[in-house]
Amino acid sequence: MKLKIPTEILAAYNPEKFKEDATKVIEMLHHYLVETSNGDFKTVLPKASPEEVLSKWSEIKETQDGFEMIDNLIKESQHIHNARYVGHQVTAPLPFSAVNGIVSSLLNNSTAVFEMSPVDTIMQKRVVEWMCEKIGYGSNSDGVLTSGGTIGNLTALLAARQVKGSNVWKEGIGNKKLAVLVSELSHYSIERAVAIMGMGTDSVFKLPVKPDSKIDTAQIESVFNSAVKKGYTPIALVANAASTATGCYDEFIHLADFCEGNNLWFHVDGAHGASAAVSKKYFPLLNGIERADSIVWDMHKMMLMPALVTGVLFKEGDDTYNTFLQEASYLFNNDPRSEWFNYAHRTLECTKDMMGMRPYISLKTYGEDFFEKYIDYSFDLTKYFSEAINNSSDFELAVPTESNIICFRYNDGVNNSDDLQKEVRKRILASEKFYLVQTNLFGKTYMRCTIINPLTEFDHLLELLDLIRMEVKNIVGGNK
Ligand SMILES: Cc1ncc(COP(=O)(O)O)c(C=O)c1O
Repeated sequence: MKLKIPTEILAAYNPEKFKEDATKVIEMLHHYLVETSNGDFKTVLPKASPEEVLSKWSEIKETQDGFEMIDNLIKESQHIHNARYVGHQVTAPLPFSAVNGIVSSLLNNSTAVFEMSPVDTIMQKRVVEWMCEKIGYGSNSDGVLTSGGTIGNLTALLAARQVKGSNVWKEGIGNKKLAVLVSELSHYSIERAVAIMGMGTDSVFKLPVKPDSKIDTAQIESVFNSAVKKGYTPIALVANAASTATGCYDEFIHLADFCEGNNLWFHVDGAHGASAAVSKKYFPLLNGIERADSIVWDMHKMMLMPALVTGVLFKEGDDTYNTFLQEASYLFNNDPRSEWFNYAHRTLECTKDMMGMRPYISLKTYGEDFFEKYIDYSFDLTKYFSEAINNSSDFELAVPTESNIICFRYNDGVNNSDDLQKEVRKRILASEKFYLVQTNLFGKTYMRCTIINPLTEFDHLLELLDLIRMEVKNIVGGNK
């Protein structure tokens, strides 16, 4: 009997239908960009509770028109391309990189092994080479691209433990008490990675920060000694470039000196701020980073890429083979070092997105200068914003601003409580005019902005301050 492909499948794979569908979707996305960029599209985050959204989106078994769903999805989603999006560190991606995304979704070359993705594998290698060079690493350096900073930090810490903590991969953690010293302002993914690695969160020793939110280098030795006193062997120190909460950079030269003097692996979490490497003006924030054994750098934060593209870079390229010492004869034949082109040897993922092509094509199409202009613009703009806050009598900054993350609170000398900051943010979100977030620092609540959208201008930020003032007036005056 001759088995026939069902007609529905043939219709879905019809190239003409693809062209028609793609054209319609591009029209819709064009409309989204026009509305967010010309100011008519005022809504940043449409106000709706999880329950309201749940009730709008019916169960899978009820069929629905695909274009209607895409149209609603666009309308009801977070509108990151709106210039008034100043929230978490998620970028408004370069539209061209979204176009690349159509290509990767259709080609779907999994980058586990070269044979499955010959071109993207090489693009990943070229992107990693470029990142290492920008950081200031030497010719021995190497690394991988992986799915996000969280997995990136885990990948780097696994290598650190293998190098500094004996052969845990084979022998297990057993009763080894290995410790990691981390900035008290490190991203939660660091502690999570240590817990995933079976070391327990008790093995995370927090390094206190100074009032400027940078690791207090004068206190490292006592934290190190207290870990040793408790029977731990410290294996690594993790610093921030920059801290998620404040956007400030640790002082890498001092930290590298300490690590070298105490046989510690030095890891820099540069998920957000390693992109300063493309800017001549802001590169000095990274001074000494090239002495780190490993660095994580997210391109989906400050390099305008859609999620997810993360570089995990190693000063000694050989260390990238220490992360996962897995054997899998159906995928690999040889010693991993002779198969640099089979990236699954060195990444948590097996099947992986074609994540080389987006940065590779965007960097070559627009040129490095384009990205330098973006970093300079967003860091400069945040500096202007921080000056406006400093010069006002009713706002205060948490710490001096160094990058494009800024924390501030309303304080006119009378009205300055934590509850006030929280209520103001809640009302602004309800107005749908801006999206900003909040954080707790040094025991106080601050409003927090990441000026990450390349289309945000100074006037938008002044408008935000005025909106906050208006909401404070409403709250103090008892208006709903
Ligand atoms: C410093 C830092 N590290 C790691 C992460 C986690 O990165 P991802 O969200 O790509 O997993 C973040 C995210 O904000 C971050 O700011």
